[in-house]
Amino acid sequence: MYKDIRAAVVGSINMDIILNMQKVPEIGENVLGTSYGYACGGKGANQATGLARLGAQTKMIGKVADDANGRKLIENLRNNNIDSSFVSTDGTQTGMAAIIIDGEGRNRIIVYEGSNAEMDPQKSADAIDDETDILLVQFETSEDVVVKCVNKAVSKGILTVIDCGPAKNFNLERMPGATIISPNENETEALSGIFPSDEDTILEASKIIMKRSKAQYVVLKLGSRGCSIWDGKNLNIIPAYKSNVVDTTAAGDCFTAALALEYKKSGDIFAACDMANKAGAIAVSRMGAESSMPTADDLINFKE
Ligand code: ATP
Ligand code: RIB
Repeated sequence: MYKDIRAAVVGSINMDIILNMQKVPEIGENVLGTSYGYACGGKGANQATGLARLGAQTKMIGKVADDANGRKLIENLRNNNIDSSFVSTDGTQTGMAAIIIDGEGRNRIIVYEGSNAEMDPQKSADAIDDETDILLVQFETSEDVVVKCVNKAVSKGILTVIDCGPAKNFNLERMPGATIISPNENETEALSGIFPSDEDTILEASKIIMKRSKAQYVVLKLGSRGCSIWDGKNLNIIPAYKSNVVDTTAAGDCFTAALALEYKKSGDIFAACDMANKAGAIAVSRMGAESSMPTADDLINFKE
């Protein structure tokens, strides 16, 4: 479906430790977990996996350390047909995320940035070449890396999608003119000061984010409510597909990957958001981060 698209992702690569429990502990409380496991993650690597699973020719630009987790993560990128030749391995300690998931599939994530924070802005931008059709970035590397890469891609006319996770009041003014900026609800609040709880606040927050970022489209990820599109003139809310929620981890990463690919293919932001909602609905119905990402066949055969 998307095999002709050449995608680059600049972002984080983490080893995730995932603990499942019925109820997360209060301060000072001990609870029993129901299961745990390790999984390859990081918002950047997850989005690269999302792109590659959907068939795009995908390049990852990132940094790990030459430690056990770093080696495992590189091997995993390769197993997913992702070009890892722009992942440097000379970091001090590979990134790590501790993810706790409650009985309703809701997650809380603690990230230790490690080597992700040591990426070099210029080297990262140099890896975005003239062959690149789309660029995806997130906020799990340093601000200078994100800014340098977005500015380079925008100046070259590359379709650029900014995923705003994790939530922080990023200096959007330093990288004007991306194609799509796509925060989730908490990230929207961090960037605009407004939680997008209803149509009025979705519009108000989208306007602020567009003014700050000068992006062509503001697409808010609204969890079980789906997503919204603000193009500077009209606001549209695209409802989510029905799904049996098991684990929402990386639903946003998967959404962003599908959004970027379908928009590149069709040039239609509504088709892109519809495809992204499908991808998100599949991701929340499966356990894990990258292990929950759909293939192109999953999307084609998707039924609510
Ligand atoms: P995460 O941080 O957990 O990876 P996120 O908070 O960045 O995710 P969400 O808004 O929770 O992103 O989810 C991304 C997309 O996944 C939504 O826009 C929607 O399309 C889909 N989605 C999320 N939750 C549900 C749900 N309960 N039912 C159906 N679709 C969902
Ligand atoms: O978006 C999910 C990801 O956030 C996890 O894989 C974890 O590594 C954190 O970066």
